[in-house]
Amino acid sequence: MVRGKFITFEGIDGAGKTTHLDWFRQQLAAKLAPSGHAVVMTREPGGTPLGETLRGILLDQPMDLETEALLMFAARREHLAQVIEPALSRGDWVLSDRFTDATFAYQGGGRGLPRDKLEALERWVQGGFQPDLTVLFDVPTETANERRSAARAPDKFERESETFFARTRGEYLRRAAESPQRFAVVDATRTIEDIRKELEQTIASF
Ligand code: TYD
Repeated sequence: MVRGKFITFEGIDGAGKTTHLDWFRQQLAAKLAPSGHAVVMTREPGGTPLGETLRGILLDQPMDLETEALLMFAARREHLAQVIEPALSRGDWVLSDRFTDATFAYQGGGRGLPRDKLEALERWVQGGFQPDLTVLFDVPTETANERRSAARAPDKFERESETFFARTRGEYLRRAAESPQRFAVVDATRTIEDIRKELEQTIASF
């Protein structure tokens, strides 16, 4: 049995990744259909009943920074064990709205938790496991700010300052530069149509 591929979507709040997720899933599913395999769409924090309960707490309640990072990784452990690993083992592909890069970007870059602590948790929870492809939707913080203000009631992270998002974006970009073979960085200031053309090429070459 050929193992499936694991693809993640990342970006700061307001970058617009949600606009493209379902469309991307449909494109992938159409390409995979002849093989009989499916695309499993999921998200972090969340993706399992326990993970979704933790998501509710994480997005709503203020807490100590390290507690926040530990809960993100606890939800991730459950997600890997219950959803991601079983799907990849049966040959399905998994498309996740955020994964570990978000913890490095938000809890590391945004909140300032030292990287070595996050790396230790990453090793514990996922060993050397990494996404096969990470699509990073990148926009300047001012653009993201405007897009966020137009949206529904903000959660705990969406209420953060522009400087928080500047640090978060900086960490995403640093990680992308560190692993260029894994990341596809999309300039998300462009039109939806232009971004989709680029994503079609990304899927084709992947
Ligand atoms: P998000 O993915 O933006 O979903 P929605 O579009 O419904 O708002 O929300 C998840 C939030 O959780 C987002 O603000 C980033 C944050 N987050 C972290 O801080 N660390 C993590 O490890 C993950 C997975 C998410």
